[in-house]
Amino acid sequence: MFLGSDALAVGPFTNRIAYLDEGDYVAIDHGSARIFDRDGKPVDRPLKMVSASAALVEKGNYRHFMEKEIHDQPDACQHTLSAYLDPVSGKATAPAGVDFSKVTRIQIIACGTAYYAGLISRYLFESLARLPVDIDVASEFRYREPPVIPGTLAIVISQSGETADTLAGLRWCKAQGLTTAAVVNVHESTMAREADLVFPTHAGPEIGVASTKAFTSQVAALSALALAAASARGHIDAAEEARLTAVLLESPRLIAQSIQVEDAIKALASDLAKARDVLYFGRGAMSALALEGALKLKEISYIHAEGYAAGELKHGPIALIDEATPVIVIAPSDHLFEKTMSNMSEVMARGGPIILFTDEDGARHARPGIKLIIVPKSDDLVSPLAFSAPIQLLAYYVAVQKGADVDQPRNLAKSVTVE
Ligand code: M6R
Repeated sequence: MFLGSDALAVGPFTNRIAYLDEGDYVAIDHGSARIFDRDGKPVDRPLKMVSASAALVEKGNYRHFMEKEIHDQPDACQHTLSAYLDPVSGKATAPAGVDFSKVTRIQIIACGTAYYAGLISRYLFESLARLPVDIDVASEFRYREPPVIPGTLAIVISQSGETADTLAGLRWCKAQGLTTAAVVNVHESTMAREADLVFPTHAGPEIGVASTKAFTSQVAALSALALAAASARGHIDAAEEARLTAVLLESPRLIAQSIQVEDAIKALASDLAKARDVLYFGRGAMSALALEGALKLKEISYIHAEGYAAGELKHGPIALIDEATPVIVIAPSDHLFEKTMSNMSEVMARGGPIILFTDEDGARHARPGIKLIIVPKSDDLVSPLAFSAPIQLLAYYVAVQKGADVDQPRNLAKSVTVE
C-alpha cells in the first residue's frame, strides 16, 4: 500500500490506484486500505488502472527530463491531435457534450505556462471561430467576481489538473451555473473529475518542473478546438476546414524539424548565460510565446527575463535596452513581420544585441548583425507550435551552461496544490 499526492509518485510501484475525494481519509496497513468520507462513513473508491508506469518516466539517453520532454513533443502533439482531428474526413470534431454553435463566449482560466497556452488560443478562437475570449490567471480570476454571461464556456487549462487556484476558478464557474471544460494532461485529476467536459491532452507524464510537451499539447488541443468551433459556427467552409485540419496534422513533423535547430541554439547559450537581463518580444500569438519564453528562461536559469508584445517596446521596455541586454525576437514572416522589423531597428539603434527566431523568408529580410535561428516556414495556425521547441531549447541550454538543476529548479514545485 502506498500513499501519494500524484499517480506518478506511486507509478514505479503499482498501476492500480484509488483516488480519494475531497475530505476523504484512509487507514492503511501492509495489506489493506479502508477509506472513509468526511463524515467518517466507510466508502468504496473504485480502483483505476493508470498508465503512469515506471517505464514511461525514465530519461532514456537524455541528460535531463526536460531535454527528453522537448524531444517528445512531436509524439505528444500527434497523440493529442488525433483525439480531435479526423484525417480521413478532414474534420475537426468537438468532444461530445460541447456545441460551439451555442457558445457565446469563452472564459479561460489557468496559471503559468498553461495560461500562456490559453493566451495563444485566444488568437485562434477569436480569428477563426469569431468567439469572444476572456482570459485571466486563476489567482486573479477566483477573487475578481466577474459578471457571469450566459452561454459562456469556462475552460480551465492545467497539466496536472490539481493547481489550487485553477481548481478554485473551475469550482467558482460551476457554482455560477456555467458549463466547464478542463484541458488536462492528467486524466484522473481533480479538475478532470469535476469539470463537466474533459478536453484531454495526451502528452504522457511530464516530470520536468518546466513545462514543455504539456504546453505544446495544450496549444495543439486548443488549436483543434478552435477549428472545430470555427466549423460549428459556420465561419469556415468544408474546404478550409480540410485544409486547416491537414495543416494541424502536419504540425508534429514541423515540430520535429524545428528541433533540428538544437546545435545552433547550443552555440548561443554560453553568451546568453552571461546576461543579467533578457527581453523577449513578439506580436500576435508570438507575444504570448514571448511571455512563455521569458518564463522558461527565468525559472530554470535564474536569469531575469521579461516578455512583451513588441508594440509595447516604446511604452517602457525600450529604456532597458543597452549592449548588455540581449533581445530575443520571435517573428515568423507573417502579416506582422514588417512591424516587428521596425521594432528590431529601434533595438539595434540602441545597441541591443538581437537573436531573431524566424523562418527562411524572415531571415532574408533581417538586417546584418542580427543572430538568426531559422525555423521551418509554417501556416499562421501552427506557428506557435513551430517556434515553441526552439524557444524551450534556448532556456534549456542556458540553464545547462549555468550548471543549474534543470529538472528541479529552486523554489518551484511541479504541481502547485496550495494557494
Ligand atoms: O499543472 P498546471 O498546468 O496547472 O501548472 C501551472 C503552472 O504551475 C505551470 O505551468 C508552471 O508555470 C510551470 N513550471 C512552467 O514551466
